[in-house]
Amino acid sequence: MKTLIAALATALVLPAAAQSPKLKVGFMLPYSGTYAALGDAIEKGFRLYMTEQGGRVGGREIEYVKVDDESDPAKATDNVNKLIKRDNVDVLVGTVHSGVAMAMAKVAKDNGTLLIIPNAGAVAVTGPMCAQNIFRSSFSNWQPGYAMGEVAAKRGAKKVVTITWKYAAGDESVGGFKEAFEKNGGQVVKELSLPFPNVEFQPLLTEIAAIKPDAVYTFFAGGGAVKFVKDYAAAGLKKTIPLYGAGFLTDGTLEAQGADADGLLTTLHYGDGLDNPKDKSFRAAYQKAYNAVPDVYAVQGYDAAQMLAIGLNASKGDVSKKAEIAKAIETAKIDSPRGAFTIGASHNPVQDMYLRQVIGKDNKVIAIATKALADPGRGCKM
Ligand code: BEZ
Repeated sequence: MKTLIAALATALVLPAAAQSPKLKVGFMLPYSGTYAALGDAIEKGFRLYMTEQGGRVGGREIEYVKVDDESDPAKATDNVNKLIKRDNVDVLVGTVHSGVAMAMAKVAKDNGTLLIIPNAGAVAVTGPMCAQNIFRSSFSNWQPGYAMGEVAAKRGAKKVVTITWKYAAGDESVGGFKEAFEKNGGQVVKELSLPFPNVEFQPLLTEIAAIKPDAVYTFFAGGGAVKFVKDYAAAGLKKTIPLYGAGFLTDGTLEAQGADADGLLTTLHYGDGLDNPKDKSFRAAYQKAYNAVPDVYAVQGYDAAQMLAIGLNASKGDVSKKAEIAKAIETAKIDSPRGAFTIGASHNPVQDMYLRQVIGKDNKVIAIATKALADPGRGCKM
C-alpha cells in the first residue's frame, strides 16, 4: 500500500520529463590494445559534456553500458548486437577503428539505431553507407590526408613515400594525401604498408632509406604511432627525410615519444594553442575532472555528446523521431573546442584542418592548412 501511495505521489508531483525512462547510451570502444588510450579519452570527453548538462539530455537521465571492441572487426557485429539486443541501448557511441565502425554502421543502418561515431574515419560510413541515423563527430580519413597533401606540395616535396597500416584508415588517409599532392604536382613513388596492428617497421624503414624520397607521409595512431616515431628517429631518417603525418601520429602520444617527435609537422582538426573561449573552458574542465590534458580524441567524445544533446533536445528525448534529430544536427553550428563546425550532407564534420608542429609536449597550431574542408561524401545517397 505504502509503495502504491509513493508511486502515485511521484506521478503527481514530478514533471513529465523526470518520469521518462533513462536514456541508455552504449559505448563500443577499444579499452585494450594499441587504441586503448583513444577509447578512454573519448569516453572521458563524452561524460564530461553530459556531466555539464546535469547528466540529462532531452529531459532523460543518462545511463551508460560499455563493451571493449578490442579494435577487432571480426568481433564487431557480435559486440554491437549485444549492445542493441541484450542491453537494449537507445544510442550507440563508437568507435575508433574504421573496420569495426563499418560493421557498427551496417547494423545501425539495418536496425535504425542512432549511431554517433566519435573517431573512426572510414570514408564508406559517410559515403555509400550513409544514413539518416548515422553521424560522425570526428573526421573522415580523407580529410587530414588531403590537407597534408597540399602542405607537402607547397613545401616543395616532389617525390614522397607513404607508409601506414593496411586497413581502411591507412589506405584512405594515404588516398587523401595522394589526391591533393598529385593534383599539386607531386608524385607518390611508393606506398608501403604492414598489417594492423603490427609494429615491425624496420624492413620498411630500410626500404625508405634506399629510395631517398623528398619526404614521407604516414598514418599511424595510438601505441603504433609512438613506436613508429621512435623507430624513424632511431633509424637516422628524421635528420634527412622530413616526416609528415595525419595528426594522430603525435596526438596523445608526445609524453611517450619524447624528443623523437620534436619538430614533426602534422595536419588535424585540433591542436594546442587554439585559444578560443570554448577550448579554454573545455581544457580547464577536463584538467579538473581527470587531472589530464585533453587530446583530439577527448574533443571528439565531447562533441559526440554535444551532437546527441542537440538531436535529443529537439526530439524531446524521443529517439524514434529520426527526422527531427537529423534536422537539428544537420542545421546546428557545433561550439567545439576545435572551433565551431557544421555537419555536411553526408553527416561528416565540415571543419578547418590545422597545420601543427611538435614543440616540446605540444602540437602547436602554426597555420590553418585547409579552411572548412568537407569530405566529398562520394556515393552517399541519403
Ligand atoms: C581509424 O581506424 O579510422 C582511426 C584510428 C585511429 C585514429 C584515427 C583513425
